[in-house]
Amino acid sequence: MKHSAPAPRSVFAAPEPSAGAADGHALPLAGRHLVLALTGGIACYKSAELLRLLVKAGATVQVVMSEGALRFITEATMQALSGRPVLTSAWDAREPDSMAHIHLTRQADAVLVAPASTDFIARLAAGRCDEIVSLACVARPPQRCALLVAPAMNREMWAHPATQRNVRRIVDDGAVLLGPAAGAQACGEVGDGRMLEPAELLDAVVAHFQPKSLRGLRMLVTAGPTFEALDPVRGLTNRSSGKMGFAIARAAAEAGAEVTLVAGPVHLPTPAGVQRIDVESARDMLQAVMPQVAGHDVFVATAAVADWRPAEAAEHKIKKAADAAAPEWALVENPDILATVAASVEARPHAARPRPLYCVGFAAESERLLEHARAKRERKGIPLIVANLGPATFGRDDNALVLVDEQGERPLPAGDKLALARLLVADIAARLALASA
Ligand code: C5P
Repeated sequence: MKHSAPAPRSVFAAPEPSAGAADGHALPLAGRHLVLALTGGIACYKSAELLRLLVKAGATVQVVMSEGALRFITEATMQALSGRPVLTSAWDAREPDSMAHIHLTRQADAVLVAPASTDFIARLAAGRCDEIVSLACVARPPQRCALLVAPAMNREMWAHPATQRNVRRIVDDGAVLLGPAAGAQACGEVGDGRMLEPAELLDAVVAHFQPKSLRGLRMLVTAGPTFEALDPVRGLTNRSSGKMGFAIARAAAEAGAEVTLVAGPVHLPTPAGVQRIDVESARDMLQAVMPQVAGHDVFVATAAVADWRPAEAAEHKIKKAADAAAPEWALVENPDILATVAASVEARPHAARPRPLYCVGFAAESERLLEHARAKRERKGIPLIVANLGPATFGRDDNALVLVDEQGERPLPAGDKLALARLLVADIAARLALASA
């Protein structure tokens, strides 16, 4: 009997899958295979860094470069960083059956075109296939392989009606647009058309793969400490870093929610797609939160709001004098934002949204965690409270959370704050789905 030889393996197909770690510290793109396509533009120099970040995040990456891209950055750089041969032509003789454009995307989770030039977008809009990048995009199976497009061009080229028409067309055809950003351009002009930074593109790719469990919902989050002024330069505050609240805002946005984040004084970047309102004191925070209540479906209060504030803040800096006694301050209690919101929902359940606001609190304790958390949940009149040990988590990237509700307690698996935020968001989404089923 004659055995036929197995078909030679494509040089440009995905490598054999390897199992990624499945805990709260797993690499965010473990197990993903991506095609990174570069088209002509100076932003190509950023794509080397982007490739490095994608690989560090656990993805396997097959690079494809157009002729234009090869004028800006070499194939050798991208080959070294991806550890795989780079595809630069539909006629690549290394591919046994000359069908690289087909094999390229059959096991890929997404094609990321970064940078996407004006001309590439025009080709894609027209369905052209006369060079390798647009050919690979048109030949991909759209149900299982997303097309993510990161435009990079001069502001006039971006603003041109033909470009805008082409962008609308490719989005209608299913492409997901990442950016562009506004800012200084390589040509010296300033405006829309800059490619997103590599780290922003990495975050956008990671976000793309998150389940969209909160699509159509709006989440309001408070985060960080508050600052209660004693005089124009001093005040009472606490050691909350805001990291947990910002991670929850990011995870909710990744899950498809529209997110409003009311942040106390912290130096953290705003997560992509999140609407941020900066405040200073507890009273500012209450004032920022209350008008938002009616327009949101979920309220997550992670802020470490100062319980007390000085009864009066001095107008000018309080000066030290040799013979004067140390100043004394009377304190008054701050409003409890979470309890106020929960009570307002109870009193006025028919808001602008189809469902009543679902309130989630946090309890940061230094001892008897669960006992305090249970009592706090009842006192504030909320369905769910998330307990964590304050001193063990303030400022850190890791945390341990226990969910406390009417039924009892459930610890979340240990992980970094973003992993925990994603688990919490998934849990809240499941509770909302149950409530409306
Ligand atoms: O009472 P305690 O400060 O421990 O409660 C913590 C929870 O209540 C957190 O969710 C916090 O954001 C919220 N809180 C609030 N306004 C306050 C105090 C706490 O929203 N003044």
